[in-house]
Amino acid sequence: MTHQIVEAKDYSYLLGTLEGFSDELLKQHFELYNGYVKSVNEINEKISSLTQKKGNPSYSQYRSLLSFKSFPQNGVVLHEFYFSNLNSQKTSPSQKLLEFINHEFNSFDEFILDLKEAGKSARSGWVILSYDERQVKIQNSVIDLHDEHLPLLNIPLLVLDVWEHAYTVDYGINKADYLDAFVKNIDWETVSKRFDNVCKHDIC
Ligand SMILES: [Fe+2]
Repeated sequence: MTHQIVEAKDYSYLLGTLEGFSDELLKQHFELYNGYVKSVNEINEKISSLTQKKGNPSYSQYRSLLSFKSFPQNGVVLHEFYFSNLNSQKTSPSQKLLEFINHEFNSFDEFILDLKEAGKSARSGWVILSYDERQVKIQNSVIDLHDEHLPLLNIPLLVLDVWEHAYTVDYGINKADYLDAFVKNIDWETVSKRFDNVCKHDIC
């Protein structure tokens, strides 16, 4: 069985551009992301090389590989959303997205407060603002690690990394200052495009 090789994307264009993100912090973060890409490829290769896929819910090599894969695979996806929704340029959400934000959070300022409080609530994990396809609404969710408490049918629009590695190099344990810096560097144009791509309902 053949498998497709996952290739790491290059986010080095962010170096030296983001207010409140040192090059050292970003370089370490890129390295970690590359490690997840490598892990996904290793697991895919192991799955492909299995001569017998014997399944067993208690233990089987096949079960272990499939189960463990979600961690690095989501790690790759979430990091790609995160790095690509960072930008030093000052941007604003589209009118359509802003209407959804105002509807769900009362105001843009209240949304930012909610995002930060969700960030403070998260353990080693993530906060995502996502579009819920089933409910036709947007919402903030907290994900532990890369693969726990993921809301189904929710497409990420804005992704915030709150693992310690995302900020301790620059901020120590002061997560609140990191959250302030993150908010200053959100690429709302990218977030708005993501929203346009997924929200096809009449009210979007
Ligand atoms: Fe990370």
